[in-house]
Amino acid sequence: MKIALGADHGAFELKEAVIRHLEEKGIEFEDFGCYSKESVDYPKYAFLAANAVAKGQCDFGIICCTTGLGVSMAANKVKGVRAAVCTNEMLAEMTRRHNNANVICMGQNVVSEELAMKMIDIFLSTEFEGGRHQRRVDLLTDIENGIELTV
Ligand code: RB5
Repeated sequence: MKIALGADHGAFELKEAVIRHLEEKGIEFEDFGCYSKESVDYPKYAFLAANAVAKGQCDFGIICCTTGLGVSMAANKVKGVRAAVCTNEMLAEMTRRHNNANVICMGQNVVSEELAMKMIDIFLSTEFEGGRHQRRVDLLTDIENGIELTV
């Protein structure tokens, strides 16, 4: 398993903590930046990490900013990416089980480091349930492809 990491300056410290956590667990990763607390524009880093997932270079993404919101918006604009902002363990589990999320987004000012690592462990170890959820995930792809859904 290989993880794509991305963050802006607002979550540089959280990304550093994620790196330590992944290293401790022996999980391979690629760090797409940023590499300091100097102010940067979050869409660029979210794009680089999300694009690595979309292209199949990485299996999952962990992308962070101050809130988790901006990077999730950017990541979700990359075709093939299903990014979810998670703020508790249940969300980290459910977005894998039901949405087949391939990117977890978190906010450094929203979650503690301890909670962030717990969510990462859950996110990376929870399987997609498939079945009726596959149909719904396929509909997300339809939207992405410009298909106008009807009920
Ligand atoms: C940066 O100041 C902040 O806007 C960014 O980290 C993120 O929270 C945006 O959604």
